Amino acid sequence: MPAKISLLKTRLEAFDRLELLGSPTPLEKLHRLSEFTGRDIYIKRDDITPLALGGNKLRKLEYLVAAALAEGADTLVTAGAIQSNHVRQTAAVAAKLGLKCVALLENPIGTTEANYLTNGNRLLLDLFNVEVVMCDALDDPMAQLAEQAERLEAQGFRPYVVPIGGSNALGALGYVQCALEIAEQSSANFVDFSAVVVASGSAGTHAGLAVALRHLMPDTQLIGVTVSRSADAQRPKVEAIAREVATELQFDEKIPPVILWDEYFAPRYGEPNEAGMAAVKLLAEQEAMLLDPVYTGKAMAGLLDGIERGLFPDEGPILFIHTGGAPALFAYHPQV
Ligand SMILES: Cc1ncc(COP(=O)(O)O)c(C=O)c1O
Repeated sequence: MPAKISLLKTRLEAFDRLELLGSPTPLEKLHRLSEFTGRDIYIKRDDITPLALGGNKLRKLEYLVAAALAEGADTLVTAGAIQSNHVRQTAAVAAKLGLKCVALLENPIGTTEANYLTNGNRLLLDLFNVEVVMCDALDDPMAQLAEQAERLEAQGFRPYVVPIGGSNALGALGYVQCALEIAEQSSANFVDFSAVVVASGSAGTHAGLAVALRHLMPDTQLIGVTVSRSADAQRPKVEAIAREVATELQFDEKIPPVILWDEYFAPRYGEPNEAGMAAVKLLAEQEAMLLDPVYTGKAMAGLLDGIERGLFPDEGPILFIHTGGAPALFAYHPQV
């Protein structure tokens, strides 16, 4: 293991990285939930990455924004839902670095609820002085972002486009870094995880973990719980980014089949469901751990159901990647 860790660290060091996290996020055992479920459950606390209420995107932004600065950019342009955690974290990084931030936003659930439109993540965008551009739908986000970049260039700015969710191979390197932390923390704690569970959305988090965990912890199964689409639609997205990450890191090991559970995202992206909200409530009352209605609540619903239905490979400990998102709790009130 130490040799595998140092090889991966060396490969990763070839990429510019802006230090935003500072130190590894904690990896903790959820004692009460473990007792409640009869299964050892651990959690990787990427919900408490240091900037502006935390979340998984800061890891991706360490690489993406390093590239933006290297290109001389003065503006970050990105896109997402009105309640996007990704947009909020991109805006936070921009504010911290003195960059302009432009956000192209959609309302994926067509709600007129005031909290959704103005509270939670959206409220924070105003604090960070984001220029918000609304659109009907992000149906071709790269083209729509390119259009915004052109407009900004014409105005004299030097924009850098951060893809939706920060999900390309460069952003996914942030989750190679996270896998290195997991490998070191699990061996320091003498835990051998049977499975790792993560929410799979724009797919960069899942893809980075897939490549690196395959290398570092090949006996651990990685399960992505989809939050926006069927397994068949999600698989090519994860595989495409994973292939690129593997190439960037000069790994020729085959990436194992991508495992996706897709029974937990209904009715659609951004719309809470009963099992997801029950998981949010359970984690709050058992562990004072705040999940969210869009990503981690649904992913945790998958984990809990997986235990109940015996879907994990064996009875060993499970690690849940807490990717953040709790600011959206306020936006979804009073629906949740
Ligand atoms: C809280 C939270 N969890 C999980 C994800 C999914 O990560 P990815 O888009 O890399 O699949 C996101 C993405 O926005 C998120 O905000």
